[in-house]
Amino acid sequence: MKAPVRVAVTGAAGQIAYSLIFRVAHGDMLGPDQPVILQLLEIPPAMGALNGVVMELKDCAYPLVAGIVASDDPNVAFKDVDYAFLVGARPRGPGMERSDLLEANAKIFSVQGKALNDHASKDVKVLIVGNPANTNALITLKNAPNLNPKNITSMMRLDHNRAMSQIAEKAGSHTTKVEKVVVWGNHSATQYPDISYATVDGKAVKSVVDNDWYVDTFIPTVQQRGAAIIKARGASSAASAACSAVDHMRDWALGSNGKWVSMGVFAAGNPYGIDENIMYSFPITCENGQWKIVEGLEISEFSRDMMAKTEAELVGEREAIASLL
Ligand code: NAI
Repeated sequence: MKAPVRVAVTGAAGQIAYSLIFRVAHGDMLGPDQPVILQLLEIPPAMGALNGVVMELKDCAYPLVAGIVASDDPNVAFKDVDYAFLVGARPRGPGMERSDLLEANAKIFSVQGKALNDHASKDVKVLIVGNPANTNALITLKNAPNLNPKNITSMMRLDHNRAMSQIAEKAGSHTTKVEKVVVWGNHSATQYPDISYATVDGKAVKSVVDNDWYVDTFIPTVQQRGAAIIKARGASSAASAACSAVDHMRDWALGSNGKWVSMGVFAAGNPYGIDENIMYSFPITCENGQWKIVEGLEISEFSRDMMAKTEAELVGEREAIASLL
């Protein structure tokens, strides 16, 4: 057995965490020979519920769980962590404007960025899930100047997986046969799910589906999948979000084996002319614990427009919280 690694999860009494923590404890993220110490963060009113989660974790008698810390103090929950899932966020309340939401979350993520900066392992891998995920990740990054900006990412994998599943279903194939899908930009309705390079069963997806389906059905379905799930389930996607968070961290830590994934990353130095001071989702491959943007892709005029729209939204979000950066 290896030495245990420390994994932090915030929003640990929430819906996503209720699936995510148990998947991590089971070994789905780092494999069956990697013990984990779970470090769970909540806000004071949710500590009772978090205690219930801890009781259930103990009742699972997981062989890989080497310790559990539950706290309402980010300085405790992030102490020496190797992996951090920042899931907890302020939801939009009645009468709240978008700018109020951005600001309320900016406050949470500046505190947590500082705590990561001061207490986490210097190589910590951070995934921001709580919405608005990309801008929350930017705030975290700006408040953690001692961490490598490459170690802070935001979750676009759910959008990526949704796109793969729509293609597989349309082509009568399976997600394991779908490759080179990209979701560019923001985790929001402006995101751009792009099939320009995608293949299914080794054939170009563009030669298998017609362009009307792509533009009028596929793109809006992927963009609005979150809202469709809320409508159907009466609650936002949780198990699928947890699944994607595990996928993101596993591929980042253990490698994507040449497979393309979508990750929200700090855009500094990106080869596609995107504003360099936002967190933007690109096509990525992972190897040896590092991610890398896939370079040299030809960008069509349609793609350029779609990429610019989602970029403009992220620039707008950054401007709304500029005073906190
Ligand atoms: P939830 O409301 O069930 O749980 C959130 C938890 O976070 C609550 O228990 C709350 O007490 C806690 N929390 C709030 N502020 C906190 C803080 N400062 N520190 C620690 N914990 C805090 O929500 P759910 O369904 O688990 O979703 C969590 C977030 O993930 C939401 O912002 C949601 O919009 C986002 N999300 C992101 C996705 C993505 O693809 N990036 C996909 C699905 C959801």
